[in-house]
Amino acid sequence: MKNLKKQDSQVYKAAMGELKRQQEGMELIASENYVSEAVLEALGSVFTNKYSEGYPGHRYYGGQKYTDTVEQLAIDRAKKLFGAEHVNVQPHSGAPANIIVYYALLKPGDTVVGMDLSHGGHLTHGHPVTLPANIYNFVRYKTKADGLIDYKELEKMVKTYRPKLILAGFSAYTRQLDYEKFQAIGKKYKAVTMFDIAHIAGLIAGKALPNPVPYFDIVTTTTHKTLRGPRGGMIMCKEKYAKLIDKATFPGFQGGPHENNVAAKAVAFGEALQPSFKTYAKQIIKNAKVLEIELKKHGFKLMFGGTDNHMVLVDVFGSKGVTGKEAEVALDKVGITLNKNMIPDDPRGPMDPSGIRVGVPAVTTRGMKEKEIRMIAKWINDTIENHKNEKKLKEIHKEVIALCKQFPIYENLK
Ligand SMILES: Cc1ncc(COP(=O)(O)O)c(C=O)c1O
Repeated sequence: MKNLKKQDSQVYKAAMGELKRQQEGMELIASENYVSEAVLEALGSVFTNKYSEGYPGHRYYGGQKYTDTVEQLAIDRAKKLFGAEHVNVQPHSGAPANIIVYYALLKPGDTVVGMDLSHGGHLTHGHPVTLPANIYNFVRYKTKADGLIDYKELEKMVKTYRPKLILAGFSAYTRQLDYEKFQAIGKKYKAVTMFDIAHIAGLIAGKALPNPVPYFDIVTTTTHKTLRGPRGGMIMCKEKYAKLIDKATFPGFQGGPHENNVAAKAVAFGEALQPSFKTYAKQIIKNAKVLEIELKKHGFKLMFGGTDNHMVLVDVFGSKGVTGKEAEVALDKVGITLNKNMIPDDPRGPMDPSGIRVGVPAVTTRGMKEKEIRMIAKWINDTIENHKNEKKLKEIHKEVIALCKQFPIYENLK
């Protein structure tokens, strides 16, 4: 970043601070990851200068030879990764991708059935504070006490409310979904089915989890998180919805696509097609399983009984009498970054809930395996149990930095 360093010391200094924070910190936010330097280069490429409203071969402005090339590459690679009939790589992020689908398929007032936020769903799946919840009528399903989705209850809701759209997908749910059940309910009640795979897209691309794309009419995702691409969104759908989705994306909801971002998506999808990505995805699942086992050994209660994916949701308040916020703050002091999180039917509020969410995609990218995950689980326990003991927290912080240094990232960036 030599030009940035010379021209704008304030931004350069902040970027260097963030780099150091990422290098020395243990990143356990389930939705974060480290992209490759090739993805960073594509993001910072001259494609950022180009307006390219429309789609490859059908643009509104001239000079599209190379934007068409990268966008088509991103589309073709995504199709290969997920076996999708149609792909739109232009959504700026995950929330816009979901809103675009609603706009494409629904009229104001139409009903959607989606997963409840405190049971693992996402804000854009109908939380009252969001724009879509003010336009459409969202009804939300929950998990049972054993942590599984109650498909009988889901069907009852669908039968009662007759939604146009049935939504699957989550930000803090750790179990595998029964794709066929969603498909069957959608078919029986003539509702469109949609799965927001933002959190698990990389696990699906790496064949560590089954592919839902054949079962759902629409599949949305972010391209960051486990998929390890740039921040961005993507919509995959059956050919029959292709025109509606493309029109709703542009000109319906967005203007010009961010082609630097699309180029970086193409690079990330190229990486995800490599055999090494399968090894990565498999290791994520192994690491999360070890985290589950170790945290249980340390006396933590895990929501949904454990995990089938890349994260665990821990009831720290119920397990150790420490709130999610207190745990987040103490862990931050030792260089472990994660987020407080609501647990199903949380007796506490969203600003200081009972839980924390812990994810392993980023540490797995660094090369950490079972042995390091055991150390991380111990540090999480020791930190929470000693959250008021500043001396102990300082000791743990030193150990965390030492381990991070053994697994370096972005060594060539400066
Ligand atoms: C399931 C799910 N969908 C959508 C989003 C929104 O993505 P973005 O933050 O890129 O808008 C998230 C983000 O955490 C998510 O977890």
